Amino acid sequence: MASRQLFPKGVYLEVPRFPSGEIYTIESLESPQQISSADYKKIIKICNEPLLYKSLFEKKFRGKSYPPKAAHDFIRVAANSWHDGTWLVFFIRDPQKEIAAAIDLKAVEDDQAEIGYWASEKHSGIMTNTVNAICNLVKKAGLEYLYALVRPENKKSANILLRLHFIKTAKRRVDGKIHHVFARNL
Ligand SMILES: CC(C)(COP(=O)(O)OP(=O)(O)OC[C@H]1O[C@@H](n2cnc3c(N)ncnc32)[C@H](O)[C@@H]1OP(=O)(O)O)[C@@H](O)C(=O)NCCC(=O)NCCS
Repeated sequence: MASRQLFPKGVYLEVPRFPSGEIYTIESLESPQQISSADYKKIIKICNEPLLYKSLFEKKFRGKSYPPKAAHDFIRVAANSWHDGTWLVFFIRDPQKEIAAAIDLKAVEDDQAEIGYWASEKHSGIMTNTVNAICNLVKKAGLEYLYALVRPENKKSANILLRLHFIKTAKRRVDGKIHHVFARNL
């Protein structure tokens, strides 16, 4: 199913951070022009935060810093992919409009997709409510099933999914590493 069909007008949603209730926004990435040079700097800074880097990028970049080129490639490929519907990326911005987190839907096909996410440790408390908002959004758009792949040691990520009634359904090896599959009918 193409993104145009899923979200014909793009996405702009408000989401409260737990527990303060500050209002953040979820915005679909449809063009690289939405990303300013300050945004690139922020993405690079967040992706180099120790917990996030270790979870998502240490293996890929062999222990070297998350490079600026990776942020530019990410934005370019993701913005293109929005239009063919294969990979949908959303940024979460804080009340000052600075990038705080990201969430994506990949392997979008028929009635299901894989969900993935990261959040700056400076904005902890945003992701449970963001995943919940995206679940509601994609359900309205016609998806029926979402799943996430989580490393067994990533308790913070598993907690998000368990709070939102995802169930651990299977194990899957990805890039040589075991992941738990958390899934939910919407
Ligand atoms: C995993 C990650 C996204 C968590 O982001 P976060 O915003 O801190 O997550 P949460 O929304 O759970 O908020 C943190 C705390 O607020 C509380 N909280 C947040 N929303 C809540 C809600 N609606 N109701 C009750 N408690 C809530 C929880 O107590 C949670 O605590 P816990 O971590 O002990 O479970 C972030 O740490 C990260 O980016 N990690 C590295 C990348 C990664 O692992 N990505 C996932 C790969 S599968």
